Amino acid sequence: MDWIKTHHRALSPLRPFFRDVDVSVPRLYRNRKGFLYVHVPFCTGNCTFCILYRERPTVPYERYVNALLRELRNCHSFKPVVVYFGGGTPTLLPAEGFGEILDEVTSRTSPGEVTVESTVSEFDEEKARALSELGVNRISFGIQTFEGRKRALLGRRSGAEEAFKKLKLAMEYFDVVSVDLLYDLPFGNTLLEDVETVIKLDIDGLSIYPLEHTPLTAKYPHPSVEENLRDFLSAVTFLYEHGYRHLSMNHFTNGRDGFLYSVTFTRPEVPLLGIGPGAGGHVMGHRIFHSPGVGRYLSNPYSVKAVLSGAFDFERFASRLFEGRLTFDTFRLEDFPSLAIAEERGWVEVRGKTALLTPLGLFWANTLAYLMCLDYVRTRLEAALGEAEVGGEAAP
Ligand SMILES: C[S@@+](CC[C@H](N)C(=O)[O-])C[C@H]1O[C@@H](n2cnc3c(N)ncnc32)[C@H](O)[C@@H]1O
Ligand code: SF4
Repeated sequence: MDWIKTHHRALSPLRPFFRDVDVSVPRLYRNRKGFLYVHVPFCTGNCTFCILYRERPTVPYERYVNALLRELRNCHSFKPVVVYFGGGTPTLLPAEGFGEILDEVTSRTSPGEVTVESTVSEFDEEKARALSELGVNRISFGIQTFEGRKRALLGRRSGAEEAFKKLKLAMEYFDVVSVDLLYDLPFGNTLLEDVETVIKLDIDGLSIYPLEHTPLTAKYPHPSVEENLRDFLSAVTFLYEHGYRHLSMNHFTNGRDGFLYSVTFTRPEVPLLGIGPGAGGHVMGHRIFHSPGVGRYLSNPYSVKAVLSGAFDFERFASRLFEGRLTFDTFRLEDFPSLAIAEERGWVEVRGKTALLTPLGLFWANTLAYLMCLDYVRTRLEAALGEAEVGGEAAP
């Protein structure tokens, strides 16, 4: 069995149920409360491992912020209760840009959590002060690893010392500081050492992702699935022993990091408005996609593709697995043979109508979700074939 590393791949068997639709985006979001994602695709570095859409900043930032504002104002009655600036490197934007977007948000509502993603080399005290004064209360750094040689191999432009310094600085200005760490790294993992460092620094939250390899990282030897599993479990055990708990299969908190935004992938029923090129969103079973490309976006920030999921009830149910718990109320446990296998392998503990992920299950959560999607597709196909046969018999 392949190890499925991302929730996008985990849910990919549901794509045949998607159909393109022509919708009015402002109407879909009208008078709804939900989450706002603002994509800032600019990067000045070039990390060898990065699979995310990003571009060199070649246009004036004011023009980009104006396009974001046009798009946000187009959905004028949508109320963002959580805001996330992701990238790329959002901290490349001048503070005034954040200010204009957050003014627009606060004219509608008071968001509880405002996160900005950053990278160590694009963060300093002036930015920290300006962002915290504007109401940003959570900052998330892509650290990946503190180990110097691996950082260089991954194309990071700062060393471990600079990372420590910037994290301590961030802790003076923001309520919550979180970091991203990677494993399945070239030449072996440093996850346990990195987690120890995070705990020593008293960082509030951490996301732990297995590396999706790029051609530049895949050329180096990297750990087997068994080694990755062992390293992940050691890190998770260490976190639990030090008072951290999981909020989702990827995210751990010491209790201070609520990471409300993580609900966007565990509860697809909560509306998410994504703005900016490459940004995705969802509302009422629809997924809304922006194609990448700042140039195109500046000339038309409203151009999106929308699909409607014909399996939304299932998506809504299965995505809760990413939080570590599935409750069988609308769906029946016996319709998912993969769960019996997962229980046998110690990935889940089934108690009545609830299946709980074990630490081993956190590692395999995307793989299990993928298998459950296949179970679901099979059931839908069997039902469709049954109906076709009944229809056939009834025909004269
Ligand atoms: C878009 S980055 C934003 C953070 C910031 N730009 C930085 O890199 O420091 C968000 C996170 O995505 C994760 N990521 C990027 N490429 C990845 C890959 N190939 N596999 C797994 N995770 C990846 C990294 O952990 C990264 O911190
Ligand atoms: S700074 Fe972040 S978004 Fe930019 S290339 Fe590096 S990992 Fe990717």
